[in-house]
Amino acid sequence: MIEVKDLTKRFAEQTAVDHVSFVVNKGEILGFLGPNGAGKTTTMRILTGFLPATSGSAQVAGFDVFNDSLEVRKRIGYLPENPPLYLDMTVTAYLEFVARIKNVPAEKRAALVEDALAKTNIVDKRHELIKRLSRGYKQRVGLAQALVHDPEIIILDEPTAGLDPKQIIEVRHLIKGLAGSHTIILSTHILPEVSMTCDRVVIINRGRIAAIDTPANLTTQLKGGQNVRLEVGADQNAVCAAIRELPGVRKVSGEPAGGNGRVVVTVEASPGQDVRSQIASKVVGKGWPLYELRGVSLSLEEIFLELTTEDSASPN
Ligand SMILES: Nc1ncnc2c1ncn2[C@@H]1O[C@H](COP(=O)(O)OP(=O)(O)OP(=O)(O)O)[C@@H](O)[C@H]1O
Ligand SMILES: [Mg+2]
Repeated sequence: MIEVKDLTKRFAEQTAVDHVSFVVNKGEILGFLGPNGAGKTTTMRILTGFLPATSGSAQVAGFDVFNDSLEVRKRIGYLPENPPLYLDMTVTAYLEFVARIKNVPAEKRAALVEDALAKTNIVDKRHELIKRLSRGYKQRVGLAQALVHDPEIIILDEPTAGLDPKQIIEVRHLIKGLAGSHTIILSTHILPEVSMTCDRVVIINRGRIAAIDTPANLTTQLKGGQNVRLEVGADQNAVCAAIRELPGVRKVSGEPAGGNGRVVVTVEASPGQDVRSQIASKVVGKGWPLYELRGVSLSLEEIFLELTTEDSASPN
């Protein structure tokens, strides 16, 4: 388990991590999602003991990251943004070396190296020099070195960067398979990645947490209120004007529904407002036939943009 409280990191003129707090439960996969420069890597480097924080606290597997950094490092597998691979070593020799410096007892090393090779699907590259491997394969060796001592906690900084689509699917599979027995934090800018692999998501922007929730909850409830789509058998302008008058309605747009005299209207509600029943009453009260009315959730992508784009409250 990982517990971060009020973590702050200032570089000379910049606050890279700004009072960040979160908990990752045992066996859970937490995703860090945020634009470039959000503070994802900095947070991970603090958690793995590579960088001191300016203030705040972080506990990993019951140990304090600052006071017990050696204990913490033993229990963590870390895939940095740029894994420090020894290019002149073969894959197997490198993984054996990493297992040794991670204090894996000699008699267990060979089996754990085999396991890491198999999990990351690089068994057939085991005798290659790392410098001869393609970028995607180097990334897999990076993953293998994070896993080789079978750590309790795994921290992966953009684990799918540089991989081809097939490899991305394999790595997501691998990560999902590690959950349960391991506690995992990964970072990404790729939205589908968090909804596919993570139990919970931290959306981080300019060093601050903008939202933290399950992908499903973020997608269904967050921000901006519920959008509503309806199909009505009436004049587009009349329908839009009538809905626009309702309280809690922020934006209304309409388009003809395929030449049958109906109109499809999209309504954006103000945050926290559910305007569906009012819209239904209005339309029915006018005597217009109502063919469909349903709530539409924002996609994770829209939520992400809303939370991380400046001036997101602009009316149009
Ligand atoms: N060693 C450093 N010295 C000074 N500033 C730094 C240092 N490391 C990071 N920063 C700054 O801290 C901020 C957060 O950087 P960080 O690398 O944590 O972002 P990130 O979310 O990982 O971004 P990316 O998605 O591009 O990897 C950035 O503005 C960066 O310039
Ligand atoms: Mg980064």
